[in-house]
Amino acid sequence: MMRIGIIGMGYVGLSTAVVLADQGNEMVCVDVDMKKLEMLKRGKPPIYEKGMEEMLNRNLNRMTMTADYKDLADADILFICVPTPTKDGRCDTSYVKAAAKAINDANLKGIPVIKSTMPPTAIEDVSKVLGKMPVMNPEFLKEGTALEDTIRPDRVVIGADNIKDFEKLKEIWSFTNAPIIMASPAEASIIKYASNSFLATKVSFINEIADLCERIPNCDVGVIAKGMGMDRRIGDKFLNAGPGYGGSCFPKDTEELRNLARNIGRPMNIVDAAVSTNCRRPVEMVNKLKELMGSIRGKRIGVLGIAFKANTDDTRESVSIKIMEELVKEGAIVVAYDPKAKATIEGINQVNMKEECIRDSEGIIIATEWEEFRGLENALEGKYVLDTRRILNPELMDPRYFSTIGRGKETSKKAKTTY
Ligand code: NAD
Ligand code: UGA
Repeated sequence: MMRIGIIGMGYVGLSTAVVLADQGNEMVCVDVDMKKLEMLKRGKPPIYEKGMEEMLNRNLNRMTMTADYKDLADADILFICVPTPTKDGRCDTSYVKAAAKAINDANLKGIPVIKSTMPPTAIEDVSKVLGKMPVMNPEFLKEGTALEDTIRPDRVVIGADNIKDFEKLKEIWSFTNAPIIMASPAEASIIKYASNSFLATKVSFINEIADLCERIPNCDVGVIAKGMGMDRRIGDKFLNAGPGYGGSCFPKDTEELRNLARNIGRPMNIVDAAVSTNCRRPVEMVNKLKELMGSIRGKRIGVLGIAFKANTDDTRESVSIKIMEELVKEGAIVVAYDPKAKATIEGINQVNMKEECIRDSEGIIIATEWEEFRGLENALEGKYVLDTRRILNPELMDPRYFSTIGRGKETSKKAKTTY
């Protein structure tokens, strides 16, 4: 068992900390946000993530929460999990550099390991601040299944420039039984950007197929995705057509990969196209509603779902918010509901119950695929409904009042048997 430091207790840092504590390691968790630290000390996760509260409380006795980097003095490993947001169109590595400087100032001896997503060009800069080359150990967890993904990742990527650091990291993650990819720090960084950009491209691809299906009678993108996904070379994941991808990572990581490629002089045309397809979607969703309702000006529209996807309270780059901003621009009165997420959006009234969101609204947009929005077909009778997540049964909806994604007009019946 080791003494392990975590720097930055957000989605990645907290998930890494509780899982490694659960394996019996002694964790020292550093953050600059005192409010967050206070909550964590009381066993209250500052984010909504399935199973987090229970695992945190089970391991609190092995977790020190602190704002003082000096408490990391005896840690063998220092996982850096701070944000790398986009600033002026570029990956902002200032939080990583600030953490690196604090490590250096506190004269810490542990191996610095970067979990934050950061381009290869930044590794050299950070190593200068640290006075040594960090290990790149990119994180692949998804919000909503963060703990599961940390315990059972598909692979672990370790980008180290020496075998000693590599072996130490391999030892930490050996409990996952996942295949280990031995890489250079630069390769580890590109594996992360390429993976997120590939998945984002897959989503934009199926969204374009959905647009096509809407214009071809008797075509449903769900059947197309099923037919494609059964080919194991394609795979059935990330083929759910929807309002476009959002979240704290796909938008920023596709942007940074494009930056990197442009600066090197080899633009990534495929990722460029995936991004531009995605950027159009929020307005296209609002246009769909306008087509259905005639006009939305002055009308009350209820939006179900604020989070960027189900099972998280994260609203960063949420398409739902982009749709709401567009609705407000078009003069609609917008009311929103989400079971977990809260967001301050100008001009939006947020309510605490979905019934309240639905009751007086003329139009409804399902923007996030929360389980509790399934089966609402009856409750939505008499309303105009746009289901951007394809969770309602179209056969139970009146086509005059209903619109969805990726479904062409039905002019003939097909055999109903499912094989
Ligand atoms: P987050 O914003 O949820 O959390 C970051 C935490 O770091 C915050 O609690 C913040 O207070 C703290 N922090 C900031 N500066 C600090 C400093 N100098 N010292 C100590 N703490 C500091 O971020 P996140 O979503 O966990 O993402 C972290 C990194 O991991 C990003 O690079 C992101 O791209 C990457 N990533 C995120 C996910 C995800 O699902 N969220 C998945 C894989 C990779
Ligand atoms: C994504 C990746 O899946 C993780 O592997 C990665 O670690 C993480 O980004 C990161 O780097 O932060 P996450 O952003 O939590 O994880 O969510 P995803 O499940 O990937 O969904 C991203 C977006 O794509 C969401 O808006 C979601 O609604 C959308 N999506 C996803 C679709 O529209 N259709 C799909 O079939 C899948």
